[in-house]
Formats: sequence, structure tokens, C-alpha cells
Amino acid sequence: MCGIVGYIGKEKALPRVLSGLKFLEYRGYDSAGVAYVKNGNVEIVKEVGKIVNLENKINYSEETFMGIGHTRWATHGVPSIINSHPHRVGKFTVVHNGIIENYLKIKEMLINEGVNFISETDTEVIPALLNYNYNKEKDILKTIEVTLKELEGSYAIGIICDDDLDNLYAARCGSPLIIAKDKTGNFIASDVPAILSYTNKYILLEEGEIAKISSSNVEVYNNKLDKVEKEEMIFEGSQDSAMLNGYEHYMLKEIHEEGKVFSETVNYYVDGNSFKNTMPEFKDYKNIHIVACGSAYYVGCIGKSLIEEFANIPVTVEVASEYRYKKNFYDKDTLVIIISQSGETADSLAALRKAKEDGIDTLAIVNVVGSSISREADYTMYVKAGPEIAVATTKAFLAQATLLSLLAVKLSNKLELLNEFVGVEKYIKEILDKDYKKYANVIYTHNDTFFIGRLVDYALCLEGSLKLKETSYINSVAFQAGELKHGTISLVTDGTPVIGICTDESIESKTISNIKEVKARNAFVIYITNNDIEADFYDLKIVLPKLHKLIMPIVTVIPLQLIAYEVAKLRCCDIDKPRNLAKSVTVE
Ligand code: M6R
Repeated sequence: MCGIVGYIGKEKALPRVLSGLKFLEYRGYDSAGVAYVKNGNVEIVKEVGKIVNLENKINYSEETFMGIGHTRWATHGVPSIINSHPHRVGKFTVVHNGIIENYLKIKEMLINEGVNFISETDTEVIPALLNYNYNKEKDILKTIEVTLKELEGSYAIGIICDDDLDNLYAARCGSPLIIAKDKTGNFIASDVPAILSYTNKYILLEEGEIAKISSSNVEVYNNKLDKVEKEEMIFEGSQDSAMLNGYEHYMLKEIHEEGKVFSETVNYYVDGNSFKNTMPEFKDYKNIHIVACGSAYYVGCIGKSLIEEFANIPVTVEVASEYRYKKNFYDKDTLVIIISQSGETADSLAALRKAKEDGIDTLAIVNVVGSSISREADYTMYVKAGPEIAVATTKAFLAQATLLSLLAVKLSNKLELLNEFVGVEKYIKEILDKDYKKYANVIYTHNDTFFIGRLVDYALCLEGSLKLKETSYINSVAFQAGELKHGTISLVTDGTPVIGICTDESIESKTISNIKEVKARNAFVIYITNNDIEADFYDLKIVLPKLHKLIMPIVTVIPLQLIAYEVAKLRCCDIDKPRNLAKSVTVE
């Protein structure tokens, strides 16, 4: 979603703000803008489309030492220059990430007070309300405090006030914001990659906190304007881990990190045949709810399969945007697991809060350290994927699958199963080293594809299908293999690509029967299996190593990710930043 970067210090602000915004491109956006101070005035430049369009309108050598920048992912109003941020009303200029839910009510009130609005956005009410309150309060911090109390929804905001051009202000409620310091000045940013070229030390603004930032000083206040001490955090990854490092796309680079990600995730929780104390001790839960969105939901389906099979605990998997509003049947014997790469997904966060309010134990499985979900859950288990930049999740999915598999072992109390996690990195490397272009060549000219599989293979079908859709814009449907003939098989015609997955011997003959049904309708079948049999029911085959059931789903996702990548490349899609998508979905 939207990205915020701000700088105040001794160096020129615009190069720093623009370079920071580029590191936030992965979040998804459709316009960008900056505000900066020049000769005592606030100047604003905005443009639709990529940051390079904005750069073409900017003079980098501008003598400006304070600036705020923004990439906007449109929610209220089309992508346009007027709707882009920063928004300015009276003495206040603001960039905002999130949604102001009561903006219409505030707008109506302010229009009655004679305020003029020019955009369709919810954001414009923030500078308007700040300006309105400032006329009464006369003090900037007090004005921000009063204004935030009137806003409903989620926000991270950067603020410049004309009456104090020596300070940048920032506040957060529901959307992430960090403050970082290097030897030249201070930054605000939506995420760590934006500041890593300058420093790896930062502080996280907590819910309701307000910051006053000069070039040499940072003061943080709570929502009663009491000063609070903040703990400095250190980002442990290298700058390389947030950069392309010779790969053509982040998606490809991140897929190729999967062997290491697997081992790091296992090694963080396991020592030989036992768990380290990084693995929490859980009481005996009678049931588990896994709640997540998108790919994190699909990895939850893998988790269900493994936990039910090995730990004998019934698991339901729920989409967070539904879970937060529906009647949930849980009690003190239920564990609610929230899975989220970013740890900031609005619906997942809301589902977590709902479960907590109802007194239910919660466990977060998260990648981003210090994210909201990681901080609010009763238990937090990090996956060791490192920064994931491509919008399409790959290595974080594999790391989540690995951790859920370890959790299944933990809940089963069968520690001997940990042996199955030894030596897997070598198999991952073998799978990564294969060429997937020939499969992509078959798929990329079609408008429809199908993924079919049973049980845990169906969960992989869901993920493979989503990867293909989001990166290559090809319509794709995942089906439980036995279900296709109940209607949807009518869409299978000559040459329709069908990816059939079977990694479980116990249902192999059943899945093969279903694949034969589509083959009989002249589908082009790509068969993904761990049992290398010669047969005539497929056109192309991908043979995976035969590994334990706890490991099989972890490695089976890799060819699906690489096929999606190669198809997207053949179709010249914007692989790392697919249209309309955002990396971290911080609105509901
Ligand atoms: O950050 P999260 O894991 O909570 O994000 C959930 C989904 O938005 C995410 O998995 C999305 O489906 C990905 N773009 C899929 O590649």
C-alpha cells in the first residue's frame, strides 16, 4: 500500500526522499509526490504513474533540507495528480498511508465551516482538520493530538506545518511508521528498506504516538502528549538482502533464496532432535483456527493438513476479512494462529484483535520483525525469510510452510520426525536448478489454466493458481481434482493447460483418474509428481524428490512459483509490481 518517506537534516532532502520511495515501490502504488521546503515555502510536486515520472519533474539540486514523499495506492478516487499526496490545506501539508473511515462526516463539517476541498480522497480531511483545529489550539503538537482523536480508521502520517519549518511531525495508528537517524539527520519511513542506504538503526512508532523530528533531535509523545522513551531497533539483514544482487527480478532472487530460508527457519527452532526455546511451549489445545489472507491463507491450508495428520488436532482455516465479522466458535481450548508475511495486513490484524478481545490464545506467524501482528499476539514465531520485496510472496510462503510443518511436529510430540528436516536444502537446490521455461511456453498464450489436486496438493494448487494470476494476469482456477467434473470441466477445451499435482501416494490413483478426465477432453497436462512413472495421461512432467509428507508441500511450491515467474516474463508483465496489487494490504 502507500509508502511514506521523509527527511530533515544537513543533506539535500530530495535525493534521499526519492531514493527511499524507490525502495518502497514493492508496496504497490499508482502515483507519487513530494513536498519540500524552499526559501521558507512549501513546494509540492506530484505525478501519476511510476516514480520516474515524478523524478522528471523534480530538480534534484534544489537547496532543500526537509521533505516528505509518498507513493499512493488509490483507494478513494482515481490515480490523478489532484488525488496524489502530499495534500495541503492552509498551513498543513500531509502524506498519509491508511484510510480515514469517517472522512465524509469530517468533510461535511468542514465544508459547513467554509473549507474548500479539491480532491476525492479521504486524506485531504487530515490537513483540513489540522488547519481548522490549529486556528483554535495555536500549538502544533496539541493540534495533532486533538485532530488524531477525531480521526477513525488507520493512518501513518507525515506532517509539515508552515509555522515550524524546523521540524517534521509524524503520527501512527494502525499503519506502520519508523523513525531512523543517520549522522546527517532524521528520516521517517513506512518500512526499513527505505532507510537502509543510510542506517540500520530505527525506532518504531507505536499506536497513537506522535513524533516531533528536527535535524538533530527526535521527541516521541503518547496520545496524552506525555514524552515516551523509545527503544532503538537494529535491522539485522544486509543492504544486499533488500536489493536485486544481480537477479533480473526480486521474485526470482527471492525464490533462489529458498534453500537458505528453509535452513534458517529450521535452525532457528531446532537443535538436532529437539526444539530450542525459540519454539513456545503450548498447552494442549483441542482445536486450532488458522486465519490469514491470500497466500498466507493458502499456506494455512497446508498447515491444516499437516497439523491434523500429525498432531491429531482439528484445524479450520479462515479468510481474515470474513473471520473478523462472522460468529466464531472458539473457547479457552482454541488456539488462533494468524499468518502474515508483513504482519500489517489490516484484516488479519483485526481478526487477531477480535480473538484477543474474546480472550482466546493467539499465535502470530510473521516475517517482519516488530510488525503490529507480531507485537500484539500472545505468542509470536518469526519465519526467517528476510526482507521480501516482490509483491508476489515466494520465500515467505516457503518459510511459513516450513514453520507450520515444524509446529505440526511440536504439537504431535513426535520429536523423531525432526530428522525429516535434515538435508532438505540440497533437494531445494536441485529443484531450483531445473529449467521451467518449457512449461511456461505452453501456458503463456492461453487465457485460462486449471490447477487440480487433492488434499494437501489442492492447497498447493490454490497457491500455484494465485501466483500465476497475480504475476502473469492469466485467469486460473484451482480445483479439488474430484470436483472439476461437477461443472467446471466444461471450460476445458483443446490445449487448455491443466497442471495436475500429486505428491501423496495414498490418493495417487484417484488424482490420476481425474487428470485422465481432462486429458480425454484434450487438455494439455503438466503433471507434477514425486513418483516418476511413464504414462500417457500427461504431456509434460515435473518429477520432484520423494520426501516425507512433512516436507513434500514445502518443496512442491517451488516449481509452481518458477512457472508463474517464467510465464509472467514471457508476457512482459511487471513481475515485481503487478498491476493493482500492493505488498502490504493495510486497508480492509
Ligand atoms: O502480508 P500478508 O502475508 O498478511 O499478506 C497477505 C496477502 O495479501 C498476500 O499473501 C498476497 O496474497 C500475496 N500478494 C500473494 O503473493
